[in-house]
Amino acid sequence: MNNFEITTPTTLIFGKDQLERIPEQIAKHTEEKKIIVLYGGGSVERSGFLDKLKTALSAFEVHLFGGIEANPEFSTLMKAVEYIREHQIGFMLAVGGGSVIDGTKFISGAVGYENDPWEVLLREPGKVFTTAVPFGCILTIPATGSECNSGAVISRSELKEKRTMGGPLFFPKFALLDPTFVATLPKRQLANGIIDAFTHTTEQYLTFTGENLLQERFAEGILSTLIEIGPKVLENPADYEMAAQLMYCANQALNGMLRCGVTTDWATHMIGHELTALHGIDHAQTLAIIGPRLYEMKFDNKKEKLAQYGKRVWGLTGDETSIAKSAIEKTEAFFQSLGVATRISQYDENCQNTPSIIKNRFIERNWVAMGERQDLTPDEVEQIVKNAI
Ligand code: NZQ
Ligand code: ZN
Repeated sequence: MNNFEITTPTTLIFGKDQLERIPEQIAKHTEEKKIIVLYGGGSVERSGFLDKLKTALSAFEVHLFGGIEANPEFSTLMKAVEYIREHQIGFMLAVGGGSVIDGTKFISGAVGYENDPWEVLLREPGKVFTTAVPFGCILTIPATGSECNSGAVISRSELKEKRTMGGPLFFPKFALLDPTFVATLPKRQLANGIIDAFTHTTEQYLTFTGENLLQERFAEGILSTLIEIGPKVLENPADYEMAAQLMYCANQALNGMLRCGVTTDWATHMIGHELTALHGIDHAQTLAIIGPRLYEMKFDNKKEKLAQYGKRVWGLTGDETSIAKSAIEKTEAFFQSLGVATRISQYDENCQNTPSIIKNRFIERNWVAMGERQDLTPDEVEQIVKNAI
């Protein structure tokens, strides 16, 4: 087992009819009466939730900032930064999915940052956020786990860039996870959530065998549960019990626990972010495209763990090599069964140059040795993307 350290400071409140808990949670973390609610493109307005929230927050002076896009845009977030500085707001409440919560994490750091915060996202040496405006969140889509972790992914479409940030400053103070939000999610977003949670698990599982036996079983439990409930949630998103199972799985897949004591990969995500940046493909769709092709490319590295996954999660039998191969096929077929296409050209036919563009970006950033063995090269990344066209 590898050494590890974990802090999970976010208070998680799970279940329906918990809105009245929000004022008490905010009051725990600030004496400010001035707060800002940050939200996305309108789903919380259309559902009537924003009105309910404003009523629940009547003890506060509530400012609103809507319009944070899916794949939150740097320029939009900078407008929120200006607004918060101008109005001297001391607490933020994110209401949305990974995009709004990630955007709020970025805003949290950028408000007190004197220079151009883009340099922090570029990870220029010594450029880091050192202060954070405190924030909580209300999750409206189970997918990213952002509600209880400290990572964020920010897009800048005019540069065709998507960059990551994070650190201990950026854990939400609290997260309300209410599965009733799932009822209004379109099928595309439900499928995205299932695949994102699935891939967060495989990124931390399809590496080495035997490093942390309990963590492996836990990962297998999340994967098996997603396979069991995914189709049921898609079929009937208003089924509260099934929605709750999905929301919990997605939370557990990326709250930091699965990585304890094990070696992780994350290359599928790194390549996937480039497909979103270049082609606007949804985050989870990029994972469905890249994951299976990456497992094929690194088959020798991952064979043993793929075979364990095939046996324990898919119930496959036979020799190790054929189980490992079938496990990849089963995974891709599962994604497709949720209605998600697994080839780039199914989203954008204009993708012939994509493999070399991504390879060159990886070289420029010195991402030349990735994956659990630090042996995934830019040439292999290029080939994975070619194979995914
Ligand atoms: O903007 P609105 O109108 O609210 O619509 C959203 C958005 O269009 C809609 N939606 C959300 N809740 C809804 C709803 N529609 C109806 N009913 C509801 N209850 O769903 C659309 C997608 O929302 P978004 O927040 O973009 O989805 P998701 O949670 O999948 O987040 C994706 C973003 O998170 C990043 C991704 O890269 C991407 O930018 N990630 C963040 C991670 C993290 N912080 O740990 C890890 C992930 O790997 C991922 O990279
Ligand atoms: Zn993800």
